[in-house]
Amino acid sequence: MAFDFLNARAGDLAIDLGTANTLVYAKGKGIVVNEPSVVAIAMKAGRPQVLAVGEEARQMLGKTPESIRAIRPMRKGVIGDFEAAQAMISYFIRQAARRRGFRRPRVVISTPQGATPVERRAIREAAEGAGAGHVFLIEEPMAAAIGADLPVTSPRGSMVVDLGGGTTEVAVISLGGIVNAVSVPVGGDDFDEGIHAYVRRVHNVAIGESTAERIKREVGAALIPDEGEGEVVQVSGRDLVSGVPKAISVSEAEIAESLTEAVFAIVEGIKSALERTAPELAADIVDTGLVLTGGGALLRRLPDAVRHATGLPVSVAEDPLTCGVRGAGKALSELKTLQSILND
Ligand SMILES: Nc1ncnc2c1ncn2[C@@H]1O[C@H](COP(=O)(O)OP(=O)(O)OP(=O)(O)O)[C@@H](O)[C@H]1O
Ligand SMILES: [Mg+2]
Repeated sequence: MAFDFLNARAGDLAIDLGTANTLVYAKGKGIVVNEPSVVAIAMKAGRPQVLAVGEEARQMLGKTPESIRAIRPMRKGVIGDFEAAQAMISYFIRQAARRRGFRRPRVVISTPQGATPVERRAIREAAEGAGAGHVFLIEEPMAAAIGADLPVTSPRGSMVVDLGGGTTEVAVISLGGIVNAVSVPVGGDDFDEGIHAYVRRVHNVAIGESTAERIKREVGAALIPDEGEGEVVQVSGRDLVSGVPKAISVSEAEIAESLTEAVFAIVEGIKSALERTAPELAADIVDTGLVLTGGGALLRRLPDAVRHATGLPVSVAEDPLTCGVRGAGKALSELKTLQSILND
């Protein structure tokens, strides 16, 4: 039968290759890999060698001696360092494969809405080079919407906003297709960058990437709390004046202020997607509201900020960090029915 390869088999994989995290879902098993998208590479006898991948490599970020580099191969949702990305994907495919014997698995892999044909080809080639058999590409916001249980194939407009580490993808979906989409080049990394710049400017202290991210998780917020409210966190960095390590306290209000620019860009992206939406679909979205997915959806008071700016009901998907891979996994089980939304 010609389309026999469209019947998903145990061992087939769905991969969400994110700027911050890579997740792998194996048919029949669920999520088998959930690790930061980081690769540590050491130079041994003039040759690059993969030292660690995932969480182990993430712990090396900003702490490596000269002979080791901890790299984040994905930037802004697309491959920034091809070799490192391929090493990472093949490591994760092998890890998923080790738990279940199979040879070349079919793979559904998500690509950002804004990816160019060249970038899509790079993702496909990296997956093939890493041991994938047949590769299907699915648009990231579509995967996120399926993972968030939105009625993507019905003739109703749904809006999903996927806030990743690198980008924010806004999409209106109806009848199994993306009707219109906006890719905002702002994500969790930009929140971290805003916090880093703020602490440097206001406290005269340089903090590392991981510290900025920890501040965001602990006291980050999309809206400035009322006077006298909000939490405080202690962090350490290097005093830019004396050059020695120093501990400081930063407040939720300060961090919310440092995030205003990035939050504004995201809200503007959502508004511009809404402006481009046809009236019938817009009417559906007014009824059902929009759903936030991706790790950025966990930023405190972000739903409020979006609600204030758009006047629409806003909800956060269940387990927003895994929506993308769960959606791609569902697409894997329904390769036949969802053929039209997968770019073979
Ligand atoms: N509790 C939290 N509060 C705020 N941000 C969070 C929280 N938890 C995780 N994040 C952020 O979510 C981002 C990761 O989200 P996600 O895994 O969805 O991104 P990604 O899929 O790797 O990136 P992209 O889709 O842009 O390629 C990181 O920037 C991380 O710091
Ligand atoms: Mg993502």
